[in-house]
Amino acid sequence: MKKILITGASGQLGKTLKNIFKSRYNIIPTAKSHYFKQKNYFLDITNHLLIKDIVAATAPDIIINLAALTNVDLCEKRPDLAHSINFVGLENLVKIFNGPIIQLSTDYVFDGKIGQYSENSSVNPINEYGKTKLKAENFLKENSKDSLIIRTNVLYDYISKSSASFLNWVVKSLQHGEKINVVDDQWNNPTWTKSIAVLIDRAIKRELNGLIHWGDYDYISRFDFANKIADTFKLKKNLIQPIKTFELNQIAPRPLKGGLNTDMAKSILNLEPSKISDCLEHIFGSINS
Ligand SMILES: NC(=O)c1ccc[n+]([C@@H]2O[C@H](COP(=O)([O-])OP(=O)(O)OC[C@H]3O[C@@H](n4cnc5c(N)ncnc54)[C@H](OP(=O)(O)O)[C@@H]3O)[C@@H](O)[C@H]2O)c1
Repeated sequence: MKKILITGASGQLGKTLKNIFKSRYNIIPTAKSHYFKQKNYFLDITNHLLIKDIVAATAPDIIINLAALTNVDLCEKRPDLAHSINFVGLENLVKIFNGPIIQLSTDYVFDGKIGQYSENSSVNPINEYGKTKLKAENFLKENSKDSLIIRTNVLYDYISKSSASFLNWVVKSLQHGEKINVVDDQWNNPTWTKSIAVLIDRAIKRELNGLIHWGDYDYISRFDFANKIADTFKLKKNLIQPIKTFELNQIAPRPLKGGLNTDMAKSILNLEPSKISDCLEHIFGSINS
């Protein structure tokens, strides 16, 4: 059984990977969050001494790097912090660990003028989050030929006690009868964390390296996504108000027409992207069973 060290395992995707991978791999979840500390390794990827100790103590076959500063406005406000986590953290892992690294990246490496993007599309990040994630991609490509970069977009799951999940925010707000403003000019193919876990599993089995894109089937605006959530969870859609991105006055500019073309992964890994309505039905069913 392969031994896989996961960084950032306390995050949204980390929680799903832990659940799905625990019966298939010998997993070593690590996290920076202190509440996570009792049962798992504490690992801040900006601290190279900690990485050295943990890699020496656990001798993993593969590292999956999920650790990232994913708050896009905070990245813009604190480019130094974004750089140290999203780039230097990955650089540390590459310098210390000799095996393959699976690095999660994002459609924010593109400017959002003509999504959906394929692996051959030209990159042009418009915010610090995208710039730091791209710098990490380039470093990995140049320094670790066995490694794999997986770009994905708008990850979601229903996670109890999480405020980071778009799905949680929509469901909780509508359940409380609160009106929400949701942008109707940002387009992506939102991706259930379980879909990306299946892709990672398949990629590990095939020992895939290089760069691959993955996202679920539907290419929709965030407003339409919120409406699909309300439909599935049987909540009031009239509480969802459309709004334009510029009206939010956010610190970081957002790519508008993002999203990822998945043709390459479909043919190499023999996978079909799931429909959002099916994913949401699964999630709704599992919460209410
Ligand atoms: N969410 C999306 O829509 C999306 C889209 C495309 C790509 N991705 C990529 O997918 C990966 C996983 O995303 P996610 O949605 O699971 O994000 P998430 O929920 O924000 O999780 C990121 C994790 O990284 C941890 N972290 C932050 N700084 C760290 C450090 N210095 N050392 C170790 N861990 C650190 C965080 O822990 P603390 O909370 O304790 O700081 C958090 O648990 C990331 O690489 C992200 O860039 C995400």
